[in-house]
Amino acid sequence: MNLDLNAIRDAARLLEAGQLVAMPTETVYGLAADAGNPDAVAAIFAAKGRPSNHPVIVHVARDADLSRWASAIPSEAGKLIDAFWPGPLTLILPRASNVPAAVTGGQDSVGLRCPSHPVAQALLKEFRGGQGGIAAPSANRFGRVSPTTAQHVIDEFGAPGAGPLAAVLDGGQSEVGIESTIVDLTRLDTRGPVLLRPGRISAAQVEQVLGRALALPDAAAPRVSGSLDAHYAPHTPVALVESAALADVVERLRAKGRRVALMQWSEATSAPWSARLPAAPEGYAHGLYVSLRALDTQGADLIVVEQPPQDSAWQGVNDRLRRAAFDSAGVLEKLLG
Ligand code: TXA
Ligand code: MG
Repeated sequence: MNLDLNAIRDAARLLEAGQLVAMPTETVYGLAADAGNPDAVAAIFAAKGRPSNHPVIVHVARDADLSRWASAIPSEAGKLIDAFWPGPLTLILPRASNVPAAVTGGQDSVGLRCPSHPVAQALLKEFRGGQGGIAAPSANRFGRVSPTTAQHVIDEFGAPGAGPLAAVLDGGQSEVGIESTIVDLTRLDTRGPVLLRPGRISAAQVEQVLGRALALPDAAAPRVSGSLDAHYAPHTPVALVESAALADVVERLRAKGRRVALMQWSEATSAPWSARLPAAPEGYAHGLYVSLRALDTQGADLIVVEQPPQDSAWQGVNDRLRRAAFDSAGVLEKLLG
């Protein structure tokens, strides 16, 4: 891809001046601000409508000095960084004392990620001479579907200058398509490494590098807003339906006069509003949010999603779908009743 170096330089200057910029990454687009500037970080929360006690991830350049952000870098972090950075993995580490509370949501940990997208890397290198940190949650309003194109970001927040964003860098459609895998390394002594959010980098890949199993989050785990039940949700209600029941459920909904939008992976149907996603988890994840957003604009009563396979390679996709369809049973009951 062609890097527009002028646009990247301009964006770095805007960030240094405390402005908000949309940044492409390989997972989803981020709503970026200078992580060292509490007012700029506060503007992210205001734009998203996000509760201020939710922490944001700090994005760093490839060779950044992590001690500016984390008070300790355990050997487990070193192994995962060597294996997966730059790439779609976020590490939760004990925070350094000078990290603004606005970034950490008042917690004593910080989330660090080194994205592989060439535009994000170029921006991080240009911003504060490569030693800054860019705070960036996904560039969507709180609870909504993450953006995977520049147009999605503009749909959420308006064009640059017309809303909270000073610039939108266009890096094409995000390759991965779902948010980064998050591994918490702050409680290695008591609970071991914890998988806070599944993603393209699978739990099995992380476990192989660490040589130990990942624990699941418990009540004491740090807050992850993506782990709220109703997250990643379109405006249209979403129901998850097993492949075997799909034809029957759609038929019954239509018999009730319901307008159904359909998202399938196993076969194509002739439904007027339908999206077909690849039958492999990487391709499915890549197209997931584009399809959800497209189906959400159809004015349907319901988006019916064919449940993907349940094996571990699909963990990241199934996690997002479960949250998008958080009231699946209730929605189906209401529309079929
Ligand atoms: O792929 C991604 O991670 C994208 C791109 C833009 O990098 N970012 C993203 O950010 O998904 P966001 O804010 O939408 O989700 C980040 C998650 C949140 O659920 C947040 O609570 C969690 O990471 N997080 C950030 N810092 C944390 C910390 N110190 N402790 C626990 N969770 C943290
Ligand atoms: Mg998000």
